Amino acid sequence: METTVVDRIADVGVLPVIVIDDPHTASDLADALIAGGLPVAEVTLRTAAGLEALRTLAQRSELLVGAGTVITERDVELCADAGARFIVSPGFDRLVVERAMSLGLEALPGIATSTEIQAALRSGLTTVKVFPAERLGGVGLLDAFGGPFPDLRFLPSGGIAEDQLAEYLSRRSVAAVSGSWMATRSAISAQDFDGIREACARTVARVSEIRA
Ligand code: 3PG
Repeated sequence: METTVVDRIADVGVLPVIVIDDPHTASDLADALIAGGLPVAEVTLRTAAGLEALRTLAQRSELLVGAGTVITERDVELCADAGARFIVSPGFDRLVVERAMSLGLEALPGIATSTEIQAALRSGLTTVKVFPAERLGGVGLLDAFGGPFPDLRFLPSGGIAEDQLAEYLSRRSVAAVSGSWMATRSAISAQDFDGIREACARTVARVSEIRA
């Protein structure tokens, strides 16, 4: 069976959410992610620098790069042009998902309710982001969704701390955990690339331990 982008993110087990203020830091950030053994990134469109940073990261063949905070169909088009392989949205919008699919990008829209899950299933999705995961109920919410939707896989995101990785990743329903602790906005702005590399390496080691 063909390996999907989501399968590759699930293999890694975590997805760093990148909020970047200065596009000139993107290349060093890419180096830090690669050196830290974390070859995936979601670069958000939350800042003016997001799209340019996405383009820089996407040029690195070692990295699987997607776009985050994708709200409109136009965002999808810009991200596809910048080299994104997947898009992540805070919420579910059928037209955004369809535009992504039509451009060959995998879509990971956010859901917070069963109604949104049903809409996502109708769009043909098998993995969804759960956002904001901790605020919504964390692993308890995922377990509750697992009742009616046993085959759905989740990318929980929002307020998850590094020391909660085990409780999330121990659940079969969790494809990967997303968050900013590996490369925080402040660490990127401070150009603390050694710190980012170390946080990535520590997280990768933790995922291996949990999955062993
Ligand atoms: C998201 O967009 O998914 C969240 O902002 C994740 O980031 P956090 O780890 O900072 O909550």
